Amino acid sequence: MVQLTLPKNSKVRKGKTWPAKSGGTRVKTFKIYRYDPTDGGNPYWDHYEIDLDECGPMILDALFKIKNEIDPTLAFRRSCREGVCGSCAMNIGGRNTLACTKGIDEVGGNDTITISPLPHLPVVRDLVPDLSNFYTQYASIEPWLHTSTPLPTEEIKQTPADREKLDGYYECILCASCSTSCPSYWWNGDRYLGPAALLQAYRWLVDSRDDAKDERLDKLEDPFKLYRCHTIMNCANVCPKGLNPAKAIADVKKMMVERA
Ligand code: SF4
Ligand code: F3S
Ligand code: FES
Repeated sequence: MVQLTLPKNSKVRKGKTWPAKSGGTRVKTFKIYRYDPTDGGNPYWDHYEIDLDECGPMILDALFKIKNEIDPTLAFRRSCREGVCGSCAMNIGGRNTLACTKGIDEVGGNDTITISPLPHLPVVRDLVPDLSNFYTQYASIEPWLHTSTPLPTEEIKQTPADREKLDGYYECILCASCSTSCPSYWWNGDRYLGPAALLQAYRWLVDSRDDAKDERLDKLEDPFKLYRCHTIMNCANVCPKGLNPAKAIADVKKMMVERA
């Protein structure tokens, strides 16, 4: 199981509250998880009040406002700002999603929005999770084309019907929102590949240009790697791209049965 361990003799610390500078009518509090594993302290929560009339509409806008105007020590990851790179995934209002595509007004609850890193992963700092294990698992499914026949001089052609089989899978941006919302992955994240890696495995299994279906299935034939999915469905519920890893996993299991 991957879990956060606090350093010995960790200091108990209280977070701070940064009041909004202006007395606007649309002030919202952002309660944000803070942690630096290198400083010997324990995690804590800081509270930042923001006048929404002076802030962009997305959660990522609020994080930038905090970092640029209130507290430059806040750490978070982002790149594209368009829901494409997957780097700004975090837990917002109790749900894993992307900070750049989540509107502040879309988060329910009272006047406070709670933001923490993706759950059940070690933390590099503040809202930045350590995704080393996640990427190692992704690499383990060998996410590239395996061909045994000589390559053509141009592209390898596919029929439109074969190309369509990749829809709903190639769009995955590897944000890890699904895997870190899966209880099976929380408890067995070192051995269970999790929904994101398994969706990617399926994407290569159904690619008509790939010649390694049997070898790929052989590698997944394991009590933990694949069969720890218990159809809990959190993965499909949270995916910010609207994908369904649970269906991909069920289809991989079906392939196992069919070849047996
Ligand atoms: Fe993110 Fe969805 Fe891909 Fe999971 S399936 S990694 S939630 S885009
Ligand atoms: Fe987990 Fe999704 Fe299976 S939440 S148990 S991977 S259906
Ligand atoms: Fe790229 Fe949010 S910044 S997905």
